[in-house]
Amino acid sequence: MKEGKIIGGIASIVKPWWEKQYLADLELFIDPNYHGGGIGKALLRKHIEAAVRKYDVGHVVADATPKTEFPLAWYKKIGFKPIPETELVYIAGNAREIMNNLTDS
Ligand SMILES: CC(C)(COP(=O)(O)OP(=O)(O)OC[C@H]1O[C@@H](n2cnc3c(N)ncnc32)[C@H](O)[C@@H]1OP(=O)(O)O)[C@@H](O)C(=O)NCCC(=O)NCCS
Repeated sequence: MKEGKIIGGIASIVKPWWEKQYLADLELFIDPNYHGGGIGKALLRKHIEAAVRKYDVGHVVADATPKTEFPLAWYKKIGFKPIPETELVYIAGNAREIMNNLTDS
């Protein structure tokens, strides 16, 4: 918040892995008028600190497009690493289509 105005946000979910819980689906955004002022890093640090303290999370998983250098470079600089494609494939589907594909025939 800056003078009563929301200038950024962060969200993720805590999910179980076989060994430890982790933070998944991280979303982080800062109002472009405030980029480069350290708010993104500060918000992410607070978010991870709370998750480690409350849930003892082991990893943080986020996604970033490989098509542009930013924000992938921003994430890499603070320690995120791409997950090799051989380990995980990022998949998505239309909920209604999948629901229809799952109906008994
Ligand atoms: C990615 C994002 C959250 C970073 O937040 P921020 O408050 O601007 O970042 P900070 O000021 O805390 O980070 C500072 C660093 O980022 C760099 N940076 C910030 N904006 C940048 C930009 N547009 N291009 C390149 N570098 C940038 C700064 O140079 C600085 O580098 P340094 O630490 O080496 O000095 C913010 O740019 C954003 O909301 N982007 C659009 C949404 C997005 O891409 N979200 C991530 C995917 S979920």
